[in-house]
Amino acid sequence: MRSPRWSPYNALLLALLQYGSPVAAAPACDRTCLEGLMSAYLAALTEHDPSRLNTTSDVLYTENSQILPLGTGEWKVAGSPGKYRHDFSDPEARQVGTITTITENGVRIIYIARLGLNEDGMINEIETQITRDPGGGARYENMTAPEAVWLEAVPTDKRISRQQLVAQTNKYYTGMQGNDPHGDYSFFDKECNRLEDALQTTNQKSGDPYGHSNDTVFASLGCEAQFQTGFLGFVTKIRARRFPVVDEERQAVLAFATLDHNGTVRTLPEVNGTASPIPPYFDVPRTLQAAEAFRLRDDKLYRIEMTLTEVPYGMRSPFVEEQLSNLTSAGNVTSLPYNCDRRCLHGVVKTVLQAMLTHDPATLPLAKDARYTENGQLIAVGDGLWETLSNVTLPGSDDKYAASFADPRTQTAVYWGMSTEQTTPGVLAMRIRVAAGKLADIEVIDVRAEATGNRGGTMTLMRPPLPVEWDGSPLGELDTVFKEGEASSTAPSLINDYFNGLQNHSSAGVAFAPECLRRDNGQQLNVGCANQLDGQGQNPNGLHNLTTAVRDRRLLIADAEQGVALAVAMVDSPAVSSSPLLLTLQVPSTYMVPQLFKVDDGAIARVEGMVKWMPFGYRSAWGSNLDA
Ligand SMILES: *[C@@H]1O[C@H](CO)[C@@H](O)[C@H](O)[C@H]1NC(C)=O
Ligand SMILES: *[C@@H]1O[C@H](CO)[C@@H](O)[C@H](O)[C@H]1NC(C)=O
Ligand SMILES: *[C@@H]1O[C@H](CO)[C@@H](O)[C@H](O)[C@H]1NC(C)=O
Ligand SMILES: *[C@@H]1O[C@H](CO)[C@@H](O)[C@H](O)[C@H]1NC(C)=O
Ligand SMILES: *[C@@H]1O[C@H](CO)[C@@H](O)[C@H](O)[C@H]1NC(C)=O
Ligand SMILES: *[C@@H]1O[C@H](CO)[C@@H](O)[C@H](O)[C@H]1NC(C)=O
Ligand SMILES: *[C@@H]1O[C@H](CO)[C@@H](O)[C@H](O)[C@H]1NC(C)=O
Ligand SMILES: *[C@@H]1O[C@H](CO)[C@@H](O)[C@H](O)[C@H]1NC(C)=O
Ligand SMILES: *[C@@H]1O[C@H](CO)[C@@H](O)[C@H](O)[C@H]1NC(C)=O
Ligand SMILES: *[C@@H]1O[C@H](CO)[C@@H](O)[C@H](O)[C@H]1NC(C)=O
Repeated sequence: MRSPRWSPYNALLLALLQYGSPVAAAPACDRTCLEGLMSAYLAALTEHDPSRLNTTSDVLYTENSQILPLGTGEWKVAGSPGKYRHDFSDPEARQVGTITTITENGVRIIYIARLGLNEDGMINEIETQITRDPGGGARYENMTAPEAVWLEAVPTDKRISRQQLVAQTNKYYTGMQGNDPHGDYSFFDKECNRLEDALQTTNQKSGDPYGHSNDTVFASLGCEAQFQTGFLGFVTKIRARRFPVVDEERQAVLAFATLDHNGTVRTLPEVNGTASPIPPYFDVPRTLQAAEAFRLRDDKLYRIEMTLTEVPYGMRSPFVEEQLSNLTSAGNVTSLPYNCDRRCLHGVVKTVLQAMLTHDPATLPLAKDARYTENGQLIAVGDGLWETLSNVTLPGSDDKYAASFADPRTQTAVYWGMSTEQTTPGVLAMRIRVAAGKLADIEVIDVRAEATGNRGGTMTLMRPPLPVEWDGSPLGELDTVFKEGEASSTAPSLINDYFNGLQNHSSAGVAFAPECLRRDNGQQLNVGCANQLDGQGQNPNGLHNLTTAVRDRRLLIADAEQGVALAVAMVDSPAVSSSPLLLTLQVPSTYMVPQLFKVDDGAIARVEGMVKWMPFGYRSAWGSNLDA
């Protein structure tokens, strides 16, 4: 039914084409020069001054896969550089990378940077990964330097070629993807060891459980024996594999890859006689971005140094063109009426939810090239929630927290209700657009409860706590005003004024009904809508008063007959302040905020909003349809 979105062979080929072919001219910038550039980069970063760097005018700057203007994001909050510096130099490809630590608003974290130079020695690519793991930062600082074997120049007759270095390294990803216990893992050196966030996770005698699991045996094994258990099979795809920095002299490679965990693998294979359930962290589709360094001995993987951070599921790498495999429905699927009326649109919501629950999108009248996004990320129809959704509250049934709305003029229907994926609850917002009797767009936003449970539940060290967390407790009945309210015009300008107010921290110019109430992540503060927008209450708007732009504003539906609008926006929180910040405010963040509005007589009378954490600078694949 589906073909892989990204083939490892293509990735390898691309890598060889890009980085593997020998360049005849003598390198202009050698190891000393490249390491000097990295030092200059880190100094400029921690002193918040990008003008000190020699960059091209169109330099591509990324943080955790988000494209940002150079000088924003971490550039505003980075503090002192740490002692630990592990550099990788590739004069031939004009690339330098480092694994190091910095402080971010005073907290020491792991920082990976890669600089790419053009022919003239100007920086034209800056890729960074920020792994917000203070434990890892502290461990690196305690290590002070990489193990000596990483930094040795390997005698020329003991080296393998650039192409071989990349090919051997790629076997690691091929082996981990869908981790087959019967695979050939002889590409590991028998004495191979791996660090994860500066913690040794092979041949470890501590007896600590591995990752999010309870398993205490896995980390006691060596690299090869670990892969032979098949334990890592929950990594369902490893795409956007890149090997940009090949340090031939040291026989080392600094690689980057995107690890998808689509949530379909439900048990961990037995490691010591007993299989165990998959940790709740993997209840939902997850994507992790990995920066991973490999040191080879002969042609085997001898040392691995990895760091991870989480990005929204399906997140595309800014450095790789990735093709989506589009699902088209079987020819025998009946189309919707050419013009789908309100009743038809409400029906469409149920039909799509049912198809998600049965994990069978092929039964739907999908348009050719139907677009599907999850939390702003374009993914294949059939991926993500289509595989993990196990329950949903249906509009019109006995379920209390669910509603659907329709706008026949734009052939749009939306849903707002509760989802369950395996054991993880969420609030699900969905927009469906019908065109000529086919489903053209399906857009879902799922705000999952992530804060509770054993070993941190599904919450990770990869995102900071929110000002207002939703712990998954029942949200009660969706206020009947949404379901039984009277007609009212729901002009886009009304919602846009509201977003302006959210951005300005001011209710001036926003039409609120006097009795308007608002709830964020299920919590109702005893403060009216206007006062909240003015910044009053403990966590105004479920956020705080250091947020700046409210962008990628989108009105998903305006259902005038029911006087309801659904909208979503990205709210930036650069974490810049002259005074010390609470834990919830320290990290540059973007909050994705789907909001359901009840409008009465042209004024906002009720707001039901959710707040979802996203990496700073996150953009929706849909852009915006309201003016910021
Ligand atoms: C930028 O380029 C100039 C001229 O080549 C050089 O003098 C300077 O050291 C460079 N600065 C950095 C930070 O590399
Ligand atoms: C610091 O490093 C030493 C070895 O150099 C080790 O024994 C100790 O456990 C480390 N401490 C921490 C907190 O990681
Ligand atoms: C494996 O399981 C056995 C029996 O349950 C136990 O005695 C042994 O300690 C376990 N091994 C490890 C490495 O935990
Ligand atoms: C891990 O152990 C805890 C405590 O015994 C248990 O509650 C939890 O369900 C276990 N988790 C998994 C994934 O096995
Ligand atoms: C529609 O066609 C597909 C493939 O041609 C087939 O598998 C499926 O059973 C058909 N469905 C119906 C309802 O006839
Ligand atoms: C899938 O659809 C998108 C637009 O919806 C299009 O850009 C892309 O090329 C299609 N992919 C394939 C493999 O046809
Ligand atoms: C999810 O992963 C499973 C196991 O690897 C695989 O069979 C399935 O095709 C994947 N789903 C998608 C949509 O790629
Ligand atoms: C789905 O949720 C409904 C109501 O919330 C509940 O009655 C039903 O038992 C659930 N079904 C499953 C399979 O969990
Ligand atoms: C709010 O922000 C908008 C756009 O940024 C601006 O045009 C407007 O004047 C501001 N309103 C107030 C009351 O500050
Ligand atoms: C933000 O809120 C804090 C705490 O309520 C307050 O002390 C501070 O003055 C506010 N800052 C702004 C810019 O409104």
